[in-house]
Amino acid sequence: MIRTTALAVLLAASFPAFGTEQARAKVDLVKAKEIAEGVCVACHAADGNSQTSANPILAGQIPDYLYKQLGNFKATDGKPPVRNNAIMGGMVAALSDEDMRSLAVYFSQQKIKPSLAKDEKLLAAGKTLWRMGDFAKGVPACAGCHGPTGAGLPAQYPRLSGQYAEYTATQLKTFRSHERANDSEKVMRVIAGKLSDHQIDAVAEYAAGLR
Ligand code: HEC
Ligand code: HEC
Repeated sequence: MIRTTALAVLLAASFPAFGTEQARAKVDLVKAKEIAEGVCVACHAADGNSQTSANPILAGQIPDYLYKQLGNFKATDGKPPVRNNAIMGGMVAALSDEDMRSLAVYFSQQKIKPSLAKDEKLLAAGKTLWRMGDFAKGVPACAGCHGPTGAGLPAQYPRLSGQYAEYTATQLKTFRSHERANDSEKVMRVIAGKLSDHQIDAVAEYAAGLR
């Protein structure tokens, strides 16, 4: 794990903007800003700091992760999208591949105004799960992939720090029910499948408070 992480950091450092392939693709930040201010603004705010806890904060998220999600909301080859969400499915239908790349970079470059953790009792349980996992249930530490401070790790592991607890908890529940099935190797479906509702609420609350 430690060796893979070091390698990932090394690779990320050599291609700071985006993965190699993506770096060559065109990114139009002017157009992205227009789309953000015209469309995404309604739910995520123009700078990606959404005002509602059901809508994820996009600001400061890892660009490769955002780009992957946008693609995952699209239905391809007549199959249902691997991340099936009626609202976002409608949003991405009108976006080209270049738009999605550009929007991913645009939102990743906005500064996050993190949400706050509120429930002290949940925080303690969440912290243990985050740092140590749950050995008895075979749940690995979230920190192992999402980082000790929840900043995520390019290109695969999304940032969770400062994200709304409500959104994070919903995602864990949709991974658990396999409604969200876009995680490669089922990594999050297996982990979330072992978590109780209380553990989900606790770890979501803890991640919201991470900086
Ligand atoms: C009508 C409200 C609405 C609008 C407008 C909207 N979104 Fe969303 N977006 C959502 C909701 C709700 C989710 C959470 C979906 C889920 O639970 O899977 C979401 C999720 C996302 C995600 C996944 C984030 C993550 O952390 O995995 C991305 C990326 C995203 N939206 C980008 C955009 C972009 C870019 C636009 C503008 C083109 C946009 N959205 C417009 C409501 C909206
Ligand atoms: C082995 C690596 C690994 C571990 C350990 C791990 N995750 Fe993840 N997680 C991932 C990957 C990879 C994704 C991105 C899936 C995708 O492509 O959509 C992800 C995505 C997520 C998301 C969705 C984020 C969003 O913006 O929608 C949440 C929430 C999450 N993980 C929570 C957790 C929690 C809580 C734990 C600890 C109980 C944890 N993860 C442990 C690899 C991991």
